[in-house]
Amino acid sequence: MGRVGGLSPPRVLLLLGATLGATAHIRPMLAPEDWWTYKDSLQGNFVPGPPFWGLVNAAWSLCAVGKWQSPVAVDTGRVLYDPFLPPLRLSTGGEKLRGTLYNTGRHVSFLPAPRPVVNVSGGPLLYSHRLSELRLLFGAQDGAGSEHQLNHRGFSAEVQLIHFNQELYGNLSAASRGPNGLAILALFVNVAGNSNPFLNRLLNRDTITRISYKHDAYFLQDLNLELLFPDSFGFITYQGSLTAPPCYETVTWILIDQPLNITSLQMHSLRLLSQNPPSQIFQSLSGNTRPLQPLAHRALRGNTDFQHPERRCRGPKYRLHVEGSSPPATS
Ligand SMILES: *[C@@H]1O[C@H](CO)[C@@H](O)[C@H](O)[C@H]1NC(C)=O
Ligand SMILES: *[C@@H]1O[C@H](CO)[C@@H](O)[C@H](O)[C@H]1NC(C)=O
Ligand SMILES: *[C@@H]1O[C@H](CO)[C@@H](O)[C@H](O)[C@H]1NC(C)=O
Repeated sequence: MGRVGGLSPPRVLLLLGATLGATAHIRPMLAPEDWWTYKDSLQGNFVPGPPFWGLVNAAWSLCAVGKWQSPVAVDTGRVLYDPFLPPLRLSTGGEKLRGTLYNTGRHVSFLPAPRPVVNVSGGPLLYSHRLSELRLLFGAQDGAGSEHQLNHRGFSAEVQLIHFNQELYGNLSAASRGPNGLAILALFVNVAGNSNPFLNRLLNRDTITRISYKHDAYFLQDLNLELLFPDSFGFITYQGSLTAPPCYETVTWILIDQPLNITSLQMHSLRLLSQNPPSQIFQSLSGNTRPLQPLAHRALRGNTDFQHPERRCRGPKYRLHVEGSSPPATS
């Protein structure tokens, strides 16, 4: 059996059919919902990469036929300036964040504890959305690890803050299937000589080496999520999808236009994380990104006027508004 990556989708299904006839073990110990990967690979067994996600599981058909898919390449020349977009609001009840840093075998994931609840609202969001996961995607080379692109440029990594609409839905799974269900904030990451103070807590050597292998977990506390955000930033928003199966088209994406930094040592530590448990061969987590999807006729809206860069990023509109323990101002 040759490499499957170069074949067109119908061909691979034929090939799969033929292989199923020949060998009974094409789905090795993977639950159907786990039977996907980022890189078309045939390491002993075929696991479907991005071009096949929508073909191997009927529940994932949107990955193949959806027209509102993510990620996309953003050309800021196409962003419609919307001066009425309010600033983003973060509310933590004045408490520090705690939770579990986790190697899922696909991503570095930070799963906040049930308390405190962290909410975002504002920007394009008409509902309050609750933080459910911080996910980190990154590449094997600098400059090629983000899912989204800005002006034909990729970044070394992308941080995705995944939230669900807690006013309409009881949990992430229900929200991911429903209209206005999810809000994902994406922050781009460059490799530089300095490090974002929030990411520094996750990525310092003592911490990140605790999650070297799949299913490793490490508890962290006293995190200040505000520190993740740049002092001043604009954002671009569009309607899209989850970037992994089942590719539901229920996501309001909010892309922050000012990148963050991490050090090359931290980037290196990320690339040393394995997709596998220690008993299996090392395969780097890096390259955990879905290829770009067509934007088609979807609108890109932004709170900055990209045609007039001199007017950008001034004033309170371009800062994160943090609502602490004091009652929210009724302005
Ligand atoms: C988050 O939003 C929910 C629902 O709108 C609200 O009940 C809760 O108080 C909010 N939490 C914080 C910390 O603002
Ligand atoms: C999520 O909410 C749905 C609908 O309210 C419910 O049926 C489902 O059991 C919930 N799932 C979890 C994991 O709590
Ligand atoms: C990131 O690093 C670059 C180069 O050192 C620097 O110019 C920039 O201000 C840094 N960005 C942040 C958000 O610290």
